[in-house]
Amino acid sequence: MTSIKNMLKDPSKKYPRTQAINLPDRQWPSRELTHVPIWMSTDLRDGNQALFEPMSVARKFEFFKMLVQIGLKEIEVAFPSASETDFDFVRSLIEGKHIPDDVTIEVLTQAREHLIRRTFESVYGAKRAIVHLYSATSPVWRETVFRMSRDETRDMAVKHAQLMKDIAAEHPETEWVFQYSPETFTATELDFALEVCDAVADVWEARPDKKIIINLPATVEVSSPNRYADQIEWMHRHLKRRDGIILSVHPHNDRGTAVAAAELAVLAGADRVEGCLFGNGERTGNVDLVTLAMNFYSQGIHPGLDFSDIDKISAVVERATSIPLHPRHPYAGNLVFTAFSGSHQDAIRKGFAVQKDDAVWAVPYLPIDPADVGRSYEAIIRVNSQSGKGGIAHILETAYGVKLPASEWPSFSKVVQVVADETGQELTAPKLWEIFCASYEKSAPLTLLKQVQSNEGRQIRVTLEKNGKPEEAQGEGNGPIEAFMKALNLPVKLRHFEERSLGDDEQAEAMAIVTLEDEKGVPVIGMGRDRNSGTAALKAIVSACNRIHAA
Ligand code: KIV
Ligand code: ZN
Repeated sequence: MTSIKNMLKDPSKKYPRTQAINLPDRQWPSRELTHVPIWMSTDLRDGNQALFEPMSVARKFEFFKMLVQIGLKEIEVAFPSASETDFDFVRSLIEGKHIPDDVTIEVLTQAREHLIRRTFESVYGAKRAIVHLYSATSPVWRETVFRMSRDETRDMAVKHAQLMKDIAAEHPETEWVFQYSPETFTATELDFALEVCDAVADVWEARPDKKIIINLPATVEVSSPNRYADQIEWMHRHLKRRDGIILSVHPHNDRGTAVAAAELAVLAGADRVEGCLFGNGERTGNVDLVTLAMNFYSQGIHPGLDFSDIDKISAVVERATSIPLHPRHPYAGNLVFTAFSGSHQDAIRKGFAVQKDDAVWAVPYLPIDPADVGRSYEAIIRVNSQSGKGGIAHILETAYGVKLPASEWPSFSKVVQVVADETGQELTAPKLWEIFCASYEKSAPLTLLKQVQSNEGRQIRVTLEKNGKPEEAQGEGNGPIEAFMKALNLPVKLRHFEERSLGDDEQAEAMAIVTLEDEKGVPVIGMGRDRNSGTAALKAIVSACNRIHAA
């Protein structure tokens, strides 16, 4: 068996697919991406053929509607000669008049007469349709699969291109667009790929007012994105009827660089990109249209595709493919706008604090505003053992309205850190709240049992439990808090007080946070909760006194 190991043993035996391209004046490296390509979704064809269980007509229909909503104008809907379901789906789209006027459906066919005829049958009656012919051109295919010479391989493509032209001429009611893909293009000698594409373009008489599509697939991604870009630029410069051709690319992701390959290919002259949402497709998938489009978006170029509700889109895709989205999938995974590390959380919080609605997005660590893909801010900051006080503060503040004084954060975050280290798990907002209450809400040795106010809160009578025994006390002041401090008659001073509601409905509890100063002038925080906001404030004072006592 020849294997990569043999290449490693003898570097002179370089596999031909990695050959360099002689293009010393290549232009693409110094170009900028300034406009988006024509997008073509092949979710319902290349994506569909890679599923454990290909989509039913109903599933395809749901997916098709979503692609239309996203804004795709070219959608490869089926491989009709390969499957009855696909054939029926195309028919139902056309017969049910489900294709919007500005959307063109595309169907794929191999270069074989009966398959081409069946493919055309599937799209009869469509207003406009792209018929996509493909045949493999690389040496391995010619020598091993077809056992054909270069001339025979070219002639096979030409013969079937001619057949398509003839069938289309018999059905002028449809606006036909022809597409040809030299499958395995990236492993094909460039001069031969050019020879075949030029020959097909001649048959179809490609010209500016009747463009054809030449699609150059990285059927298997066999080299680096710069090599693909070179191949595309070379073809772009050499294609005889270039002005009558929409130059398309179709990167697969075998080396994990399909997005880069597509971006560089656009720099190199490609007009159109074929791919799938979230990179579904054969093996490692087709290029991910969501990432590509959002990459443009992040650079201030609107992709013309709407991903403003990414969670809804990913739910449909997950349902259709039965493949869960990776939590770190760019722009869409559950964790991609989440920061666990303390320094990241701190920078994000500061960024949010100064980010203006009408200013260019500039929050550290977040390449785009998560709201642009329908994500809320609450999920951005999450707490684990790597997190700092900034993250904890953000969660408690956004989820519970807790605004602890800055001086308190170091000691509270130490308490949180201990729990995080012990459990080794992420600390959710409810868990942080639990730790917060356990730290600042203390009802022993002093407990407030009852309070009665009179004279508009200037006088108060309270029943307290002290070390298990009830005691009555009373006090007077400018308001109930001052009156209560008098009734307590302890060597403490009130420094700060604030309260808020812990919910929006009538049943919601009130929460109060107070800062007392002990005898030595040390600030101590206490928290209290109650349905009655006045009682919550008094309970907060009691909590602070108990914490002083415990210290
Ligand atoms: O990957 C590929 O080469 C294809 C062709 C049919 C375009 O999917
Ligand atoms: Zn493909």
